[in-house]
Amino acid sequence: MALVLGIESSCDETAAALVDGNRQIVAQRIASQDAEHAPFGGVVPEIAARAHAERLAPMIEGVLQDANVSLTDLDAIAATAGPGLIGGVMVGLVSAKALAMASDVPLIAVNHLEGHALSPRLADETLEFPYALLLVSGGHCQILRVDGVGEYRRLATTIDDALGEAFDKTAKILGLGFPGGPAVERLAREGDASAVPLPRPMKGSGEPHLSFAGLKSAVLRAHESEKYQPADIAASFQQAAIDCVVDRLSIALAKMQDCRTLVVAGGVAANASVRGALERLAASHDMRFTAPPPKLCTDNAAMIAWAGIERLALKDFAPDPLDISARPRWPL
Ligand code: KG4
Ligand code: ZN
Repeated sequence: MALVLGIESSCDETAAALVDGNRQIVAQRIASQDAEHAPFGGVVPEIAARAHAERLAPMIEGVLQDANVSLTDLDAIAATAGPGLIGGVMVGLVSAKALAMASDVPLIAVNHLEGHALSPRLADETLEFPYALLLVSGGHCQILRVDGVGEYRRLATTIDDALGEAFDKTAKILGLGFPGGPAVERLAREGDASAVPLPRPMKGSGEPHLSFAGLKSAVLRAHESEKYQPADIAASFQQAAIDCVVDRLSIALAKMQDCRTLVVAGGVAANASVRGALERLAASHDMRFTAPPPKLCTDNAAMIAWAGIERLALKDFAPDPLDISARPRWPL
């Protein structure tokens, strides 16, 4: 059975994981850089690259030790090759190249977005293609049709901010610190979602594109008016964002009626209210709903290893590790 080492370093999590062809996460380690970036209110690329460089090698060694395997036991090494902060991507990819070449193991370059897009199949063995996917993270916000490994059709994207970015900016406005998504979700539980009138950008538009910049500006104005409690702003923001996503997805689902499963992935998929709303949306369309467990939604290396397993099974990767380069931008 295939055993793949996954490496992730495209943003602010340094992660390594071993996943096998039976969907078992044999070992995994992850180090968040929240503490390093928190004083700046966001991810600082140079600090991120240095932190990855310090942590990755011992982390890979640790994961191999945890599982009691050596590099030569691996069927492949899968590393995020983009998109992301280029310094961090290079740290992971160059490490993976060196290990792959030294131990004569194939190297699979994984698109980070593909890692998110296939992660629900790691968590749910019954999930078959095609499926409708909402991919919502800090840097990306898309509605996709997934027909197979490497077969992605984008139906909609955000015209401005990503959904995770809107959560992060709302957190910053409310002084909740970094990272913002989980903090907004926690505070929203104590608030009244109907207390603050906020817009639903793009609602009713015939194309399924998304937009969150106007919502963020409205959150800022509401906060500056000093008329509302922070918890009410958080709850109202979260509800407005969810209403937008549900409205946009309804339009997109009408364009892919043969997809019988609705899937959500990416960091924002960890949000329980988002998951609940999508579950109800799926039920109203007679669709099945699935989402990876929250720990597989935010950045991790198990999803990268799993994308490697999927590509390995199809023998779909570049034969020479030296042909692979890091890509700051890499659309699915
Ligand atoms: O997928 P991810 O870990 O990294 C990227 O590829 O961007 O997503 C991170 C994003 C951040 O914007 C973070 O605030 C958001 O996902 N996020 C959440 C939650 N957990 C993480 N947003 C809302 N609710 C959450 N519980
Ligand atoms: Zn991500």
